Amino acid sequence: MRTHKLSSLLLAATTFPLISTATPLRERNGASKRDGVIAPKFVIISMFEPEAAVWWGIDEFDLLAQNITLPGLSPLFPEVHCTADGDVCQVITGESEINAASTMSALVLSSKFDLTKSYFMVAGIAGVNPKVATLASVTFARYAVQVALQYEFDYRDLPDNFTTGYIPFNVDDPAEYPAEIYGTEVFETNLALRDVAIGLASSAVLNDTAAAQAYRAKYALEAAYTAGSQAPSVLGCDVATSDVYYSGTHLSEAFENTTHIWTNGSGVYCTTAQEDNATLEAIMRAAKMNLTDYSRVMVMRTASDFDRPPPGVSEIQNLLYVNQGGFPPAITNIYRAGIKVVMGVLDGWDSTFEKGLKPTNYAGDIFATLGGTPDFGQPSFFITQEKKRDLAAAASEHGNLRMRRALHSARRRAAAAKALGIEG
Ligand SMILES: *[C@@H]1O[C@H](CO)[C@@H](O)[C@H](O)[C@H]1NC(C)=O
Ligand SMILES: *[C@@H]1O[C@H](CO)[C@@H](O)[C@H](O)[C@H]1NC(C)=O
Ligand SMILES: *[C@@H]1O[C@H](CO)[C@@H](O)[C@H](O)[C@H]1NC(C)=O
Ligand SMILES: *[C@@H]1O[C@H](CO)[C@@H](O)[C@H](O)[C@H]1NC(C)=O
Ligand SMILES: *[C@@H]1O[C@H](CO)[C@@H](O)[C@H](O)[C@H]1NC(C)=O
Ligand SMILES: *[C@@H]1O[C@H](CO)[C@@H](O)[C@H](O)[C@H]1NC(C)=O
Ligand SMILES: *[C@@H]1O[C@H](CO)[C@@H](O)[C@H](O)[C@H]1NC(C)=O
Repeated sequence: MRTHKLSSLLLAATTFPLISTATPLRERNGASKRDGVIAPKFVIISMFEPEAAVWWGIDEFDLLAQNITLPGLSPLFPEVHCTADGDVCQVITGESEINAASTMSALVLSSKFDLTKSYFMVAGIAGVNPKVATLASVTFARYAVQVALQYEFDYRDLPDNFTTGYIPFNVDDPAEYPAEIYGTEVFETNLALRDVAIGLASSAVLNDTAAAQAYRAKYALEAAYTAGSQAPSVLGCDVATSDVYYSGTHLSEAFENTTHIWTNGSGVYCTTAQEDNATLEAIMRAAKMNLTDYSRVMVMRTASDFDRPPPGVSEIQNLLYVNQGGFPPAITNIYRAGIKVVMGVLDGWDSTFEKGLKPTNYAGDIFATLGGTPDFGQPSFFITQEKKRDLAAAASEHGNLRMRRALHSARRRAAAAKALGIEG
């Protein structure tokens, strides 16, 4: 989630009853499923209390019918919530990348759940780029980009010809593709599923408020921000992940550029949040072991606040002082749009969703962990002979630790690419 001030107030610790559901370890993926193992058709992923609570007390189902305690969940949210029949569950990760990765790893590795056929939907609020969407809009991402995985200088400590203080690893120009990759920089989700989700969510009547309308209208003064000034809608566009809650025109534009470069021009930077790449990484690692199906993951983000101000409002006013009015409708729209997707999957389970929607695009991470060939900045792009020579020369010339690491990293990538049959 990304919202200012409210979260700490709303995260008042609650004590939850511990329920003992000691299910013996079972053989995963095997025939020996034991009683008590929950096999949800749909898992809603919330990040903090307001995103979670919007699903409680609704007419469609009761998520608080079962609370399952798992080791490894957040101390603030120590239980997974499920309907009585176990068809729909909800996990609350806690905010930012570390919480998301830890919580999701605990869930996907738990023997209390069989997640092999589960659909996962990140359902949270986010900052929004006024060039692409507006407050209260509902977005579904194809790409998640971990934009701050870079060197960072204070802008003032760089020569005048730099436009940002963020520089990708092992290169010296912000506009270059990184020469060192950690593997979580870019995730791509199943486009066929995303488009079905957009179709389902589009039948929702979105909430909006007078305050959001008033703030949004200010963006009409800048031609590039036309999308920001329009009424909210349901659309497909991509999400940036960063622990750092960045704000303002320069950083937002820098990460817009990062998204463009790292997805080879196909990603549209639209929303900004603190968790998605971490969540996707945990689900993907489990998919590698057949514990989850990565082609069943959706990332829905509703827009709660603009990442940069409209004309006439300062950068700091935009983040810290004005009431943009987007938070209440963004929270409401998680439910209004999200419920259409959940019910669509449940209602179409037998006909469509149990067997799954085969991705027509590449779905996975930058390392091609699940096989296939990434269709964004593919490995061959950065595992070239030339690049390897450059790195080797740099490492021997400078003997610098980072360069040596980069060399090792390049060798590992080359080996991985060779194993996958991608020539460098
Ligand atoms: C599950 O936990 C919620 C609080 O998060 C509580 O309101 C609900 O009653 C609990 N359900 C059961 C079955 O104990
Ligand atoms: C992070 O998530 C975005 C979109 O959800 C995806 O495009 C990107 O590839 C992800 N990055 C990593 C490193 O997983
Ligand atoms: C800045 O200028 C220096 C010196 O001309 C050049 O080597 C460098 O590539 C430039 N960097 C950027 C980011 O433009
Ligand atoms: C949006 O939600 C608020 C709060 O529940 C409500 O007062 C308002 O009428 C809703 N507006 C629309 C257009 O749904
Ligand atoms: C983003 O990229 C454009 C086009 O290359 C460039 O003009 C602009 O300065 C970049 N913005 C930042 C903040 O780096
Ligand atoms: C996962 O499933 C695939 C395809 O059925 C199989 O080849 C692979 O061995 C399985 N991996 C594990 C860890 O079970
Ligand atoms: C990346 O973009 C370049 C330039 O548009 C193109 O030549 C290349 O084929 C693209 N790579 C992939 C994997 O799509």
